[in-house]
Amino acid sequence: MQKDIKKMIKRKIILGIETSCDETSVAIVKNGDKILSNIIASQMNIHQEYGGVVPEIASREHMKNILITCEKALSKAKIKLGDIDAIAIANGPGLKGSLLVGLSFAKAMAFALDKPLIGVNHIDGHIYANFLVHKEIKIPFISLIVSGGHTSLILVKEIGKHEILGTTRDDAAGEVFDKVAKYLNLGYPGGPIIEKIALKGKKNAILFPRPLTKTPNLDFSFSGLKTAVIYFVNEKKKIKKDLQIANICASFQQAVIETLVSKTFYAAEKYNIKNIVVGGGVAANESLRKSMLEAGKKVNKEVYFPSKELCTDNAAMIAVVGYYKKIKGFSDTFDLDVYTE
Ligand code: KG4
Ligand code: ZN
Repeated sequence: MQKDIKKMIKRKIILGIETSCDETSVAIVKNGDKILSNIIASQMNIHQEYGGVVPEIASREHMKNILITCEKALSKAKIKLGDIDAIAIANGPGLKGSLLVGLSFAKAMAFALDKPLIGVNHIDGHIYANFLVHKEIKIPFISLIVSGGHTSLILVKEIGKHEILGTTRDDAAGEVFDKVAKYLNLGYPGGPIIEKIALKGKKNAILFPRPLTKTPNLDFSFSGLKTAVIYFVNEKKKIKKDLQIANICASFQQAVIETLVSKTFYAAEKYNIKNIVVGGGVAANESLRKSMLEAGKKVNKEVYFPSKELCTDNAAMIAVVGYYKKIKGFSDTFDLDVYTE
């Protein structure tokens, strides 16, 4: 009996599912920090043709991919269904149809296996993805989440106890990369494409605005920056001048980075927090990573990023949050629903 209880406490294998946007992902994570598998079926090539994610196509693709992705995750992790202790599912925010595919699959699995079902907030996943890489992170910390749909500064007081300090009033950081890339006909997703082109340009060639950096609040606003890029391009086109796309990309990227760094460090100073944890797709940007780390060194603050693969959407980050909810004894009922915002 004693042995059984010990075994139960030790065994925390979480199967995570992520289908909030255009990646179908299933992961197996042991004890909150050991990835046994993290399979990601990306639909990027399909949506590229349309210059952005088409929600209806995304849900259909998730339906095609979910079972095979799950089978691959189990086989790579070398575990059996019976070894799983809980099913963690990202049930929001995201695209409704896409979330529903993942949630229905998760419910069916939890029901058939008689295992707990745990709903996970996708943004929380981006925060705690860092725990898969850095065991040394100390709480409290300030988290900057920069993804395609969200830009937020969050004060994490305890695991799962969060205070939102600021969000974007319009476009998210990743969204503005995607929209500028689309306007410049560079392709989708915009972030990695702009980052690559920016390497050939000068980051100080054009002085684009650094929105809301002069105001003492922690909100972001990127739509004015996007408009500034559009005006700049239109003016150049009018006078038939070479656009110098690389300089536009480098200067635009620099404006986003300086804005994110300035706001994040303002938050850390204001709340007197030493640790800064960054996550979300835009956190894969090498220049952002360097700028944040350099800024951290200057003022003696610790800055953490997940590995680049764990910045963009994946199910391992969902399993981590599921793990912490599980050890706190939390689980959801089959009434669990999705939410889009
Ligand atoms: O976190 P994520 O995979 O999905 C959402 O939750 O939205 O983030 C996707 C976003 C896209 O907008 C993409 O352009 C951006 O992250 N992104 C990047 C980079 N890689 C992905 N932005 C800037 N630089 C990158 N290297
Ligand atoms: Zn995401």
